[in-house]
Amino acid sequence: MTSFFRDREPWAALAKALRELLADKPVDYVFRAWVPACATGEEAYTLAIVLRECMEQLGRSSTAQIFGSDLDPEAIATARAATYGAGIVNDVTPERLARYFTRIDDGYQVRKEIRELVVFAPHSVISDPPFTKLDLLSCRNLLIYLDTDLQRRLTPLFHPRDPPGRPVVPRHVGDRRRSAGAVRRRRSAVEDLSAPQRRSADVRQ
Ligand SMILES: C[S@@+](CC[C@H](N)C(=O)[O-])C[C@H]1O[C@@H](n2cnc3c(N)ncnc32)[C@H](O)[C@@H]1O
Repeated sequence: MTSFFRDREPWAALAKALRELLADKPVDYVFRAWVPACATGEEAYTLAIVLRECMEQLGRSSTAQIFGSDLDPEAIATARAATYGAGIVNDVTPERLARYFTRIDDGYQVRKEIRELVVFAPHSVISDPPFTKLDLLSCRNLLIYLDTDLQRRLTPLFHPRDPPGRPVVPRHVGDRRRSAGAVRRRRSAVEDLSAPQRRSADVRQ
C-alpha cells in the first residue's frame, strides 16, 4: 500500500532540504537518488516531481537519476507503466495533476518528463548489493516490516559510501519496540545521514 505524496509533511521538509543541497551543486549536476522498496512507483515519482520543482525554483538545468527498486516484480511492472487509478486525485493537488499527469481512460499516467527521470528494477535490499554514489536515499515503510536483526543489518547498507552531498531521507523506519524517544526521533521528517560510512559496496545501476 502506497500513495503519491504519502504524508505531506516529510515531503515539504525534504523539498526544503533538497533546495539547500542543490543550491551548492554545479548547474548541470545530475542528482542521484535511490528509492528501495518503492512498491508500485508512487514514492519514486513523487520524489521526481519534488526534485523537478526544486530545480525549477532554483533556476537550475540540473537533472536527476532516480532508481526505484522493489522485491516484487509485479509492483515494478506497474511502476514502469506509470498508470494509476482515478483515486490519485485525493493525493495529488489539481495543479500537479494537470502538470505532471495525463488523463487516460480509467485514471492517469505520469507524464514522460517525470517518467524519464526514474528507472525501476527488481531488487532485494536483503540479498542484492545496494546502489551507491547517491545524493539521497528514501526508504519509507520497509524497515517496520522487518525484524530487529534485519533492521540492524540493513541500516549501515543504506549509508552510501563517500556521499557526494549531504544525503537526507524522509524517515518512516524503526522498530515499534524501541523507546518513546526513539519513536519520536523516528517520526522526525528528515534525517541527516552524513554520518561516517561503514561499508563498501558494488555499484549497481
Ligand atoms: C508498504 S510498501 C512501501 C511502499 C513505499 N516505500 C511507501 O512508503 O509508500 C513495502 C514494500 O516493501 C517491499 N519489500 C519487502 N521486502 C523487500 C526486500 N527485501 N527488498 C525490497 N523490497 C522489499 C514490498 O514488496 C513492498 O512493495
